[in-house]
Amino acid sequence: MQAIIRTKAGKEFSTMKVQNIESPKTQSGELKVKMVSSRINPVDMDLMKGFPSLKYKNPQIGGIDGTGIVLEVGQNAKDFSVGDKVIFYRLFSDIGTWAEEITIPANYCAKIPSNIEVKDAGTIALPLLTAYDSLTQLNPKKGEKVLIHGVGGGVGFQALQVAKQMGLFVIGTGSQSEKAVLDKAGLDQFIDYKTQDFSQVLKVKEVDYVFDVLGDDILKKGKLPSFS
Ligand SMILES: NC(=O)c1ccc[n+]([C@@H]2O[C@H](COP(=O)([O-])OP(=O)(O)OC[C@H]3O[C@@H](n4cnc5c(N)ncnc54)[C@H](OP(=O)(O)O)[C@@H]3O)[C@@H](O)[C@H]2O)c1
Repeated sequence: MQAIIRTKAGKEFSTMKVQNIESPKTQSGELKVKMVSSRINPVDMDLMKGFPSLKYKNPQIGGIDGTGIVLEVGQNAKDFSVGDKVIFYRLFSDIGTWAEEITIPANYCAKIPSNIEVKDAGTIALPLLTAYDSLTQLNPKKGEKVLIHGVGGGVGFQALQVAKQMGLFVIGTGSQSEKAVLDKAGLDQFIDYKTQDFSQVLKVKEVDYVFDVLGDDILKKGKLPSFS
């Protein structure tokens, strides 16, 4: 089978190559999965360039999340059957989804609901977990306002949907081209970051929380007295 592999340790992203390797053996507690799709997350690029928590393996397959179809169920891997469509992510210390077949601990996997295409679900796992984990830690109350920067992006769009499920009022900064999709997902107020300055559009203390995956200037602006 083929896999996308970092061929040596270090910071050279260019060492990634498509290579033929053996399909892995399924261990106890694992599923063997035929990969269907995997998003290239920004963190994948960082991980493949070398990350303190990534202990280089040989072969080091790239990719942190994705979807696929169960080919084998290892001993003690409960609740799954051959043919199940599954979504999963891997720990930063144990990456590897850019391959035709992978093995993965069953407890990193969930079944994909029948109304979602397996291929499309490959964009969801890590962005959704990031958004869900961050927003639930805030423990917000229904009706409170959250400002989500980059609301049309991978993490931002998941954060919008989680926030709406929590009953929050969501204001988002993004690009005009994403507005129709964002409206459909329930965005309450849209700020086009290319033509508007969110710190001028919003009133002092207008929002209860800021969800920011972009940092830098946005973070600094969000700390200005006029906004905080
Ligand atoms: N993806 C993950 O699972 C994950 C997990 C943890 C952390 N992160 C981190 O979160 C960050 C974003 O990741 P992502 O996957 O969401 O990236 P992404 O899909 O590229 O989304 C970024 C979004 O931000 C928008 N944007 C850019 N500049 C902006 C600005 N000044 N104001 C408002 N919106 C702006 C972009 O819109 P345009 O494209 O229209 O400019 C795009 O929709 C990265 O730093 C990543 O490392 C990601």
